[in-house]
Amino acid sequence: MADLRTNFAGIDSPNPFWLASGPPTNTYGQVAKAFDQGWGGAVWKTIGEPIINVFSRYGAVDLGQNRMMGFNNIELISDRPIADNLKEIAEVKRNYPKHAVIASLMVESKREAWHEMVKQTEDTGADGIELNFGCPHGMSERGMGSAVGQVPDYTCQIVEWVKEVATIPVIVKLTPNVTDITYIARAAVKGGADALSLINTINSIVGVDLTTFEPQPSVAGKSSHGGYCGPAVKPIALHLVSAVAGDPVVKIPISGIGGIASWRDAAEFIALGAGTLQVCTAVMHYGFRIVEDLIGGHRTIADIRGRALPKVTKWEELDLNYHLLAHIDQDKCIKCELCWTACEDGAHQAIRRVPRNNGGPVVEIIEEACVGCNLCAAVCPVQDCITMRQVPNDYAPVTWKEYAAGKGKLAPRSEQFHTATWGTRA
Ligand SMILES: Cc1cc2nc3c(=O)[nH]c(=O)nc-3n(C[C@H](O)[C@H](O)[C@H](O)COP(=O)(O)O)c2cc1C
Repeated sequence: MADLRTNFAGIDSPNPFWLASGPPTNTYGQVAKAFDQGWGGAVWKTIGEPIINVFSRYGAVDLGQNRMMGFNNIELISDRPIADNLKEIAEVKRNYPKHAVIASLMVESKREAWHEMVKQTEDTGADGIELNFGCPHGMSERGMGSAVGQVPDYTCQIVEWVKEVATIPVIVKLTPNVTDITYIARAAVKGGADALSLINTINSIVGVDLTTFEPQPSVAGKSSHGGYCGPAVKPIALHLVSAVAGDPVVKIPISGIGGIASWRDAAEFIALGAGTLQVCTAVMHYGFRIVEDLIGGHRTIADIRGRALPKVTKWEELDLNYHLLAHIDQDKCIKCELCWTACEDGAHQAIRRVPRNNGGPVVEIIEEACVGCNLCAAVCPVQDCITMRQVPNDYAPVTWKEYAAGKGKLAPRSEQFHTATWGTRA
């Protein structure tokens, strides 16, 4: 078995795969079972003043046959007494000393209240504290959760209060519901955070029932915005992790969260700078057993950590003289003409239908019109039927920044303005 032991901001775990704070980490029984099945750590379901939840808490977005492509919840923090949660955290830690057990906290925005809660948490032997500044519903109306995490000064202030008494690492969990996450990340660093985790859920309404006009999930005919997560949010999470990991001021470890379900998802987060990974929705969907795939796909983590980060850049630094051309493999083409329709109506009219004597027309790329946008390859239902190929040219790379400053030369194809309708009207 590969050695995936991880040290994250001073917290040791057998591997970097942790359960994110949520329903799968609500009880001793669940967390113990997860550790037995291979999870390296768990962030306990957020503890605070116990709350009362509504019935009907989750909503899902399906895509064709794929259930729960996106998932939404209007659940609040733990509805169990603080003392029960702390007792079970202590028990887990006692029985699984090598695993990472993190207490997620959400407390009234008062210094004494935070001090008290942090001290009680440390008495359990937990390895770290995660501050939930991200919950987008219910708690934010009470001045907690994202109400804190959306304001840099509040974030900094509360992290400072926590760090006044904490002796174990403090992870600040960030909300994506902000204009620029790096401001909040920097505020957490200024307050003394040892690590960051992101993302919490995204504000959302998952749908409206068009017979009753009730937004989903409906609670006695009404609903409220909730937190979106699951596979649909992974691209947003990857971007925000890269923004924070690439920020020159942040420089503290990052735990990546959002839509992780497979080792490939995890690897992408690691390549963008994450040190540990947290999973919630995929476990709610498929159970703890998915950890086998997460672990099985990795030999080492160090090899890929941050490898994609230097490749994330600003648009103005991309090479304008890099040219692609779509290529259709006629042997694989099933003549559905979806590429033609998409390009004709939705892009650059760079595919033509060529009539044949026997059989229907074939589709062909109009090379002079193709801008290499990738749309045809994206819509084509046949794997590798349409591929994008680089077209070499004699021009040196030139960025928009250089070009705008009068430096560098654009290849004629780079200057091609879309003034003509090339496509056939067949
Ligand atoms: C039903 C549900 C309850 C959640 N409860 C909490 C919570 O109590 N505290 C917290 O920090 N995050 C909570 N989350 C957010 C998750 O920890 C995670 O940040 C988010 O769901 C994105 O990850 P995922 O796509 O793997 O689910 C909850 C998520 C779900 C779906």
